[in-house]
Amino acid sequence: PKIAVFASGNGSNFQAIADAAQIGALNAEVVLAVSDRPQAYVVERAKEMGVETLVFTASQYGSKAMYEEMLKGKLLGLGVEWIVLAGYMRLIGPVLLSAFENRIVNIHPSALPDFPGKDAIGQTLSAGAETAGVTVHFVDAGMDTGKIIAQECFPVNGRSRDEVEAEIHAIEHRLYPATLQQLFSR
Ligand code: GRF
Repeated sequence: PKIAVFASGNGSNFQAIADAAQIGALNAEVVLAVSDRPQAYVVERAKEMGVETLVFTASQYGSKAMYEEMLKGKLLGLGVEWIVLAGYMRLIGPVLLSAFENRIVNIHPSALPDFPGKDAIGQTLSAGAETAGVTVHFVDAGMDTGKIIAQECFPVNGRSRDEVEAEIHAIEHRLYPATLQQLFSR
């Protein structure tokens, strides 16, 4: 399928997905990278990969519905079938949820339903949790509340934040493309 990846930051998950698609490990075509932050590194990664970019600034629109209508027009025009969120720091509203029903997925750096929302790794460590994790899930109107598709956990074992974060990213970069591949072939 044709997919669009939404990201607000570094874009290492965008990279993992675009790389997997390029080598044929993921049967998908990344036709658009969307970012709500003009200076996000994901924008450079997309250009480097030859993926079209759409950068917008939410504050220049009157409402979420207004910028989502703009995004919807672009996505439908390109024939996008799935929206893949990868570090996109905004909730998806009714306009995109209804246009892409059950076709929006997200990755979150905790073992959901534990520690939804921002800084999930920090939340995991401050709570003294024994396990950290990564979850891929369908997106609904809530914050990291949709149906879980795949999850991988590992013991924290007194490791530092940097070590836990590195492990989480390593899992994400493997788990996200693999989970998408399963999803797209069922
Ligand atoms: C990832 O940890 C992802 O789980 C979370 O945001 C981070 C994005 O990292 N939702 P990157 O921009 O893909 O490098």
